[in-house]
Amino acid sequence: MTTSPQPLVKGFHDDKTGSIQYVVACPNTKKAAIIDPVWDFDEKAARTCTVNADELLQYVKDNSLDVEWILDTHPHADHFSAAPYLKDKLGAPTAIGEHVVKVQKLWKTIYNLGDDFPADGSQWDRLFADGDTFKIGDLEAKVMFSPGHTLASITYVIGDAAFVHDTLMMPDSGTSRADFPGGSAKDLYRSLERILALPDDTRIYVGHDYGRGGRKPRWESTVREERETNIHLRGNVSEAEYVRIRESRDDELELPHLMLYALQVNIRGGRLPDAEDNEVSYLRIPMNQFAGPSKVCPM
Ligand SMILES: [Fe+2]
Repeated sequence: MTTSPQPLVKGFHDDKTGSIQYVVACPNTKKAAIIDPVWDFDEKAARTCTVNADELLQYVKDNSLDVEWILDTHPHADHFSAAPYLKDKLGAPTAIGEHVVKVQKLWKTIYNLGDDFPADGSQWDRLFADGDTFKIGDLEAKVMFSPGHTLASITYVIGDAAFVHDTLMMPDSGTSRADFPGGSAKDLYRSLERILALPDDTRIYVGHDYGRGGRKPRWESTVREERETNIHLRGNVSEAEYVRIRESRDDELELPHLMLYALQVNIRGGRLPDAEDNEVSYLRIPMNQFAGPSKVCPM
């Protein structure tokens, strides 16, 4: 009897945003996928660069990998996606969850974008639906719709590894926030239940880690470890209790530093708005549209 191979997983932590980018490779064929690559952004100078993405390219080259997919789990609020840059370098197709169209429509309204912004998912090569499957060499990959953090979030289950993005965090850090536009603590709880129903030994790879309590950043756990020790989920917490914990925690959080920059780039699949007639691209910031626990401007 032949068993399907298990993926080789390499995580790359971006210290600035706490994001983890992954290269997932088939040990038999050296085919690979990149998940959630970061396009660096210095907001003070409004300058982008490709330090993180170039590190991924170097790893791909050093290991003679053949990248077949460039995947995002959701439109991120804390960093820009490097998917188009990597597509340009590697020629591989980009993909995200099909409900990204809802996120595009939502943010198209917030940014008051015109009809020249297509909110139809055409910025990606493939839009995945819940239950879709694809191959990375000999690896079997399956898409699991897992909303709550955003309307469009998906988990990639590749062999015995689940790339759960902003749902679970490491057990000592709990779970991800659910208070962005389109977020829902109730939906997040149901997504967490689906993820925790995967086999106990499934390797969990999280989307962010901030080195809680000064420890080094970590990004790998297991379904069993999360179920038994995650600070937001242990003890079979009920949906109602989880929603109460999540929402009261979210009420204390500032919005992500780069959210209003990042969403307008990420709803374009990781691209800046078209340059204007002086060949410069501009971002838009909607004023007085969001509240936060700010001491400067309390609501
Ligand atoms: Fe996120």
